[in-house]
Amino acid sequence: EKGTYPHYMLKEMDEQPAVMRKIIQAYANEAGELEIEADILEALQQADRLYIIAAGTSYHAGLVGKQYFEKIAQIPVEVHISSEFGYNMPLLSEKPLFIFISQSGETADSRQVLVKIKEMGHKALTVTNVAGSTLSRESDYTLLLHAGPEIAVASTKAYVAQIAVLAVAAYVTAQAKGIAVDFDLKQELAIVANNIQAVIERKADLEQIAEDFLKIARNAFFIGRNVDFYVSLEGALKLKEISYIQAEGFAGGELKHGTIALIEEGTPVFALVSQKDVALNIRGNVKEVTARGANACIISMEGMAEDDDTFILPATHPLLTPLVTVVPLQLISYYAALHRRCDVDKPRNLAKSVTVE
Ligand code: F6R
Repeated sequence: EKGTYPHYMLKEMDEQPAVMRKIIQAYANEAGELEIEADILEALQQADRLYIIAAGTSYHAGLVGKQYFEKIAQIPVEVHISSEFGYNMPLLSEKPLFIFISQSGETADSRQVLVKIKEMGHKALTVTNVAGSTLSRESDYTLLLHAGPEIAVASTKAYVAQIAVLAVAAYVTAQAKGIAVDFDLKQELAIVANNIQAVIERKADLEQIAEDFLKIARNAFFIGRNVDFYVSLEGALKLKEISYIQAEGFAGGELKHGTIALIEEGTPVFALVSQKDVALNIRGNVKEVTARGANACIISMEGMAEDDDTFILPATHPLLTPLVTVVPLQLISYYAALHRRCDVDKPRNLAKSVTVE
């Protein structure tokens, strides 16, 4: 029930800090250490390569998850769009493990891949919000998101839950493999929960940003580097699906290879600056677009923020920034859609779960 909330989407965004805390709790053992089931851990340890399969927002979460498995657990990862995988299958490694990421657990494009790889004799792990869903039932293993029902068509809390659960899986796999991990994920996720809360409490500022940057916009760009690029893709998708403003997410360095031709006087460009090692580069990209008239909204993180940045996020562990940077983008999209009187929870042409291929 959405209770006093005008929309499920707003309620679900507000629930994100609680979802982070729920995940910490659900994946902690009695000693308070993060843990996943032994058979899943073994499957992850034995795999020589992970193949993440997903669609839409879940695909965007998979892109972030790849970073975790590669950087924390040192396992090579490929991320594939479900609908493409069937006829464009890569050469598989000797010991592949497939990871299906699906909020609903019912996405037909993903299921079609699952059926195929099961026929080939491979193992599958599904990361889903719905226990007993088709993908969960038909996979060998399941990790639950613990996000609670997600009703709004635009996925918000499931996305952050997917990223957090993938981080937990990568982290405990690294520990089991004896790989040194130099941070305490549980503690960092608790900080993330507080940071998301702090962003949510600044809704009024984000509503103003939606007004200032998107009120009359026909299109918008989202740019970032490294994981900020993946969050840019998600920010653009959120804006498109609920406000119908054409939007694209881009790697900061890629704009100048063609797309910068679309920048005009007043074109909104949302730039994410949460990665210290590329902060200067992305700021350079912002200069390239503002020199051509773009209206740049800089969303940066404490520690690399500059005084006139539009919105400053609380400091977050560099691997976990997607859990925080996405939140202002979700809220900006929500308010942009509201200002345009769009049906936020049920955007046109879309269904909550896509059960056709
Ligand atoms: C976007 C959105 C979709 C889904 C996609 C996959 O907000 O919700 O892009 O992420 O249809 O759905 P699941 O995760 O249920 O497989």
